[in-house]
Amino acid sequence: MATETLQRGQWGSRIGFILAAAGSAIGLGNIWRFPYLAGEGGGGAFVLIYLVCVVGIGMPYLFAELALGRKSQRNPVGAIMSLVGPRSLWVIVGAFCVLAGFVILSYYSVIAGWAVGYAVKEVIAPGMPFGEFVASPTMVIGLLAVFLALTLLVVVGGIEQGIERWAKILLPILLVLMILVIIRSVTLPGAGEGIAFFLIPDFSQVSLDLVIVALGQAFFTLSLGMGAMITYGSYLAKTEDIAISGGYVVIFNTVVALMAGFMIFPALAATGVDAASGPALVFLALPEVFAQMPLGGLVSVTFFVLLSIAALTSSISLLEVVVSYFVDETAWSRKKSVLIIGGFTFLMAIPSALSQGAVASLSDLSYLLGDDGLFGANDFLSLLDVLVGSVGLAIGAFFLSIFIAWVWGASEAAKELEQGGSLLTPGLIKVWVFMMKYVLPLIIAVIIIGNLVGIDV
Ligand code: PFF
Repeated sequence: MATETLQRGQWGSRIGFILAAAGSAIGLGNIWRFPYLAGEGGGGAFVLIYLVCVVGIGMPYLFAELALGRKSQRNPVGAIMSLVGPRSLWVIVGAFCVLAGFVILSYYSVIAGWAVGYAVKEVIAPGMPFGEFVASPTMVIGLLAVFLALTLLVVVGGIEQGIERWAKILLPILLVLMILVIIRSVTLPGAGEGIAFFLIPDFSQVSLDLVIVALGQAFFTLSLGMGAMITYGSYLAKTEDIAISGGYVVIFNTVVALMAGFMIFPALAATGVDAASGPALVFLALPEVFAQMPLGGLVSVTFFVLLSIAALTSSISLLEVVVSYFVDETAWSRKKSVLIIGGFTFLMAIPSALSQGAVASLSDLSYLLGDDGLFGANDFLSLLDVLVGSVGLAIGAFFLSIFIAWVWGASEAAKELEQGGSLLTPGLIKVWVFMMKYVLPLIIAVIIIGNLVGIDV
């Protein structure tokens, strides 16, 4: 066991784990996805529902993924096999996790590459509009390669020397940079209106669709539904309190999403840019916002540097899910796994990179999907995001929660939660077991059905 732990690696400290897991959670989901969803969902009402979903549903489910990882000390496939054997059909769920990590990493790296490009845009492509920027094959593929190479470099270093060390450096930098942009944003004339939009709920905006979108975002933002937290939990020492460590991750992640709101909505209000600009909000609208403000160039570079950093600490967790599978279940070394998976991810990412205008047959899939696309997605990247990042994560979370609550057994899982920790009193543990067995599977099923009937996320 001791040599095995040495080979797999383990977090060096509690704060190291918290920063790495918070780094996984905090990413494009907080700074790019949350603001545009809140902008489209009417502001404060969406924010309130999202907070309820994160605390009431995301957090208990996060504890479950962490517990399964720590119990088994394995990647998602190995974790499931350790409980039900290699021939069980449940292994397919683990395999889905690994595949989802690979696919999400491919298109996530493309968007992250744009962020890297925007951080140095004044140097590499001054004055080039977003549409032209994403349609340039050399630009997008070059930036994708840069971002993916950074991800590989961190993961090849392993758990303590790679992921933990970099999370400890990058996350504090992210927080400081965000505070600087917030100070600039909230001191702009007219900022108050944006803050009010973000904070004061308008309940006439609430609909079932909005609740479902908020739930889906709660899963995406906490990196749930594809075993990233099973994997990170597998490097957690038995002496740690899962509820305390996981609780910090939820707090950090929520604080950063709210900070992103304080960064973006006052700036939009001050410059009159529409908050409901959709997924392009960050890349299309914000540079316009920055251009209109004093010290805008500096704020812009700062913002896109921090978006790249946030994306990096998430992409390493996506890659780690796949790498941990090969390290645990095959004879491949960490270095070999990282290089081979990195190569395949790069190839897999190319069609996504070229799907924003560079190659017409990837950018407009109406010849395959009809004029409305599938769930509104009509290009290759958006299609992967909807199929894997949205519907796929929900399906993954549904099966994993059933597996943990009914196959492993919620009471057994609760014992793992109680080990090394005392934050959860017996009463709270009872509530958790009930939620895992009945409430969560039901609610997650609602998200999936909501997605399937075509709710526009
Ligand atoms: N939580 C990340 C974000 O908000 O950007 C995205 C993510 C990372 C989703 C890792 C899933 C995952 F396993």
